[in-house]
Amino acid sequence: MTLHVLRDGGDGLAVVLLHGFPLDHRMWRAVAEQLSVPTRVLAADLPGAGGADDALPEPSIEAAADRVAAELADAGVTRAVVVGLSMGGYVALALAERRAALVAALGLVDTKSTADTDEARANRLRIAEQAEATGSVEPVRGMATALVGESTRSAQPEVGAQLAAWIEDQSPAGVAWAQRAMASRPDRTDVLAAFAGPVAVVVGDEDAVTPVEAAQHLASAARQAQLVVVPRSGHMSAVEQPAAVAAALSDLVQRAASS
Ligand code: MLT
Repeated sequence: MTLHVLRDGGDGLAVVLLHGFPLDHRMWRAVAEQLSVPTRVLAADLPGAGGADDALPEPSIEAAADRVAAELADAGVTRAVVVGLSMGGYVALALAERRAALVAALGLVDTKSTADTDEARANRLRIAEQAEATGSVEPVRGMATALVGESTRSAQPEVGAQLAAWIEDQSPAGVAWAQRAMASRPDRTDVLAAFAGPVAVVVGDEDAVTPVEAAQHLASAARQAQLVVVPRSGHMSAVEQPAAVAAALSDLVQRAASS
């Protein structure tokens, strides 16, 4: 099973949570617990994540989106509020492009719609090769501290420790797969601009990876966006400040239900 039920709910719109890199569905637990809407909450492990050793498709964000769509179909979910943090946001936009009928609303958390620069792409391919060559997650270990904001580093050191533990649970093959998948993704700003449903754009005010300017770009591209800047948070707002992220997503679910 790579689709995890974080909370049972009624027959209304489900919420589907897509994790960032190099993590898995567990990064969403605190947000799921604090959502104030009585919906079913599902969280995926994207291909290669969670230490899974199942056969991986050719690396692409589209393959990740197609697998999430297939698993949602198996679970009987035909329409959902789709929320992704960073890499999860790339997958959410691919779902909006490839499975438009599935996506009732989009939550884009600490993410962006643009493609990589040549330099970023080359860096990802280098990390993928290193993960395979060393057979370890060593090339991404430093992300446990680099992803969070300075406020979290000083006031909530347990968050960095939790991220480090989750990163250790990932497989080197999964790390390599995700890096190659992200490296090959296109710009999907046009997908966001064409999306007719409600959108929540959430970003930590200390996010150094996809900063507030990237979130403003998303919010201005979308037709019906609400931008929420989360105080005292870096790139992992769903882990650093889950209550604020849960509040923004609860609001999104209500907007989706009434639209
Ligand atoms: C993530 O948090 O998923 C990563 O920072 C995404 C990326 O490397 O672009």
